[in-house]
Amino acid sequence: MSTSAQIGVSGLAVMGRNLARNFARNGYTVALHNRTASRTHDLIKEFGHEGDFVPTESAEDFVAALERPRRLMIMVKAGAPTDAVIQEFARLLEPGDMIIDGGNAHFADTRRRERELRERGIHFVGTGVSGGEEGALHGPSIMPGGSTESYASLGPMLEKISAKAKDGAPCVTHVGPDGAGHFVKMVHNGIEYADMQLIGEAYQLLRDVAGRTPAQIAEIFRTWNTGRLDSYLIEITAEVLSHVDAATGAPFVDVVLDQAEQKGTGRWTVQIALDLGVPVSGIAEAVFARSLSGHAALREASRGLAGPRPAPMGEAEAAAFADRVEQALYASKIVSYTQGFHEIAAGSEEYGWHIDLGKVASIWRGGCIIRAAFLDRIRAAYDARADLPSLLSDKTFAQEIADAQDDWREVLVAATRQGVPAPGFAAALAYYDALRAERLPAALTQGQRDFFGAHTYRRTDRAGSYHTLWGGDRSEVEA
Ligand code: 6PG
Repeated sequence: MSTSAQIGVSGLAVMGRNLARNFARNGYTVALHNRTASRTHDLIKEFGHEGDFVPTESAEDFVAALERPRRLMIMVKAGAPTDAVIQEFARLLEPGDMIIDGGNAHFADTRRRERELRERGIHFVGTGVSGGEEGALHGPSIMPGGSTESYASLGPMLEKISAKAKDGAPCVTHVGPDGAGHFVKMVHNGIEYADMQLIGEAYQLLRDVAGRTPAQIAEIFRTWNTGRLDSYLIEITAEVLSHVDAATGAPFVDVVLDQAEQKGTGRWTVQIALDLGVPVSGIAEAVFARSLSGHAALREASRGLAGPRPAPMGEAEAAAFADRVEQALYASKIVSYTQGFHEIAAGSEEYGWHIDLGKVASIWRGGCIIRAAFLDRIRAAYDARADLPSLLSDKTFAQEIADAQDDWREVLVAATRQGVPAPGFAAALAYYDALRAERLPAALTQGQRDFFGAHTYRRTDRAGSYHTLWGGDRSEVEA
């Protein structure tokens, strides 16, 4: 058995297979392993000519095929299957070897696995990989966590196979220790959900309020994609909207069941944000919108509920409305990213990861699902000021929102008046208005809490905690 492979990939479903091919196409010798050997043989048969592969049929042969320290990438289902594969390989490894998990693992699992393997001298590198099957093959955005030592060995290879941003920078960075990479990938997916929801709302508003057809909306998106909204998701939205179903001749979007699926990373983003106390309302609305869509029986039972009388727009008004929707979409997008970056900053603080937010924006510029021209500006904002309290504190973004806000509000007025749900747009605007508010009703909330539970409150005019004797003479005592 040759011991020359620089990297091994175990788990050769579509993502694993394409990552293995990507390594090989970039000149690396790649050991291959899969639970059922037929997948390994198929890869060699179809793509063996693309580079140097070492097919193996057992965990022992796979590990023996790798040069030391061994770099072993596992691309299997998150959860129990990942633990099983780690156990299978770990017993065969030596101190200094690396296991790289490129699946969408929960960062808490990654922290546990990293700790357990570290005790045995093995580096565990939980790595976010984004870009779908095409990205895996041609260059994904890669978000590795783990030790600095493992990145020194692995980083150059990941840089080679990763996407490159327009300025040529590789879309990979050492995000931080243990679970930092998977955490950042989780938030990437949360932002992906929010982006998709906002685009969906823009589509529905253009259709139901402005009376545009899917083909016309595809054209609108194509135009938007030449401006500040330039992004992969806007680009593919135009493709999906202009697609016509071959069987019926109807727009494709009209023959697809309107119940969105989710594998769970968006939900995790919200669950963790709740634990960290970070308001990610835009991402949460996106997750809730998907779950609401799936409640078929509830929706059926509610379909007859009263709504407003339809008020069709004239042509000039509809054209102006489309421009307003672009403003609303852009402003809401800034808010979703603001919330996502806040969550990364909070996670970084909580777990001591020291994540460089500018670097995160930088590696999302290419390869990943949320890649967008706009991310270069987020990178610039954090590069100019690493401790930016929020993206909304950046002068350029603040000015853009100032310019967009009238239209943003008008779009929500129209949506509300015509009964078209736009929870993402609305949550983003509410977040913006809440952040900039002089006073929030939280003061009243504190009063209520103190009234029914003696939970105490703090005052604006002096330090300390206080309680009012609500049931007595209503005098105030220091708590
Ligand atoms: C990516 C994607 C990828 C996948 C997710 C989201 O970054 O390449 O985010 O990880 O598409 O699993 O899928 P769901 O919509 O099913 O959660």
